[in-house]
Amino acid sequence: MTLGVVEAGEFTKALINLEPGTDVYFRGPYGNPVIFPDDVKVVLVGGGSGFAAFYHMARDFKNVEVVVGARDKDHLFYIEETEKHAPVHIATEDGSSGTKGYVTEILKKFEKKEGEEIIFLNCGPPAMIKPVIEIEKKITDKIFSSIEYVTKCGVGLCGACSDRHGRRLCVDGPFLEEL
Ligand code: FES
Repeated sequence: MTLGVVEAGEFTKALINLEPGTDVYFRGPYGNPVIFPDDVKVVLVGGGSGFAAFYHMARDFKNVEVVVGARDKDHLFYIEETEKHAPVHIATEDGSSGTKGYVTEILKKFEKKEGEEIIFLNCGPPAMIKPVIEIEKKITDKIFSSIEYVTKCGVGLCGACSDRHGRRLCVDGPFLEEL
């Protein structure tokens, strides 16, 4: 197993600076397994660290396309590995890789083939997910999102990861239908 760690504060900084070979205690993954039939096209849309789960899904699902957004090329990771399993479309805010702008620029041009069943899985911060869903609704109603809420207990007790309907990402997610 490989973990992607983005330095975002004291904890992740300390984690990144551990000596190789250090033993660590690890809990997770949380929530429900993500499973779809092979004849459905799964479009993964991610921004920021939301992209972290996509490599595994691109590897494990049959018919996948990936749309990923980042600040710049230095904030893209695991792209080459993911491209071995699925087409990857990139958007960067400064245009240093792929389309200049946000993932919405790519989604606006997304074309559904005749008779194709599509499911969107979105993963990222709320500011990304909201405009993304508005575009996806014109293509399908099968839209599931995993918003980057802060996760604390990870076992459904503290409510830190609840959405406005009271659903907890750590036990009811990670992907939830309708927000
Ligand atoms: S992190 Fe505590 S309920 Fe989800």
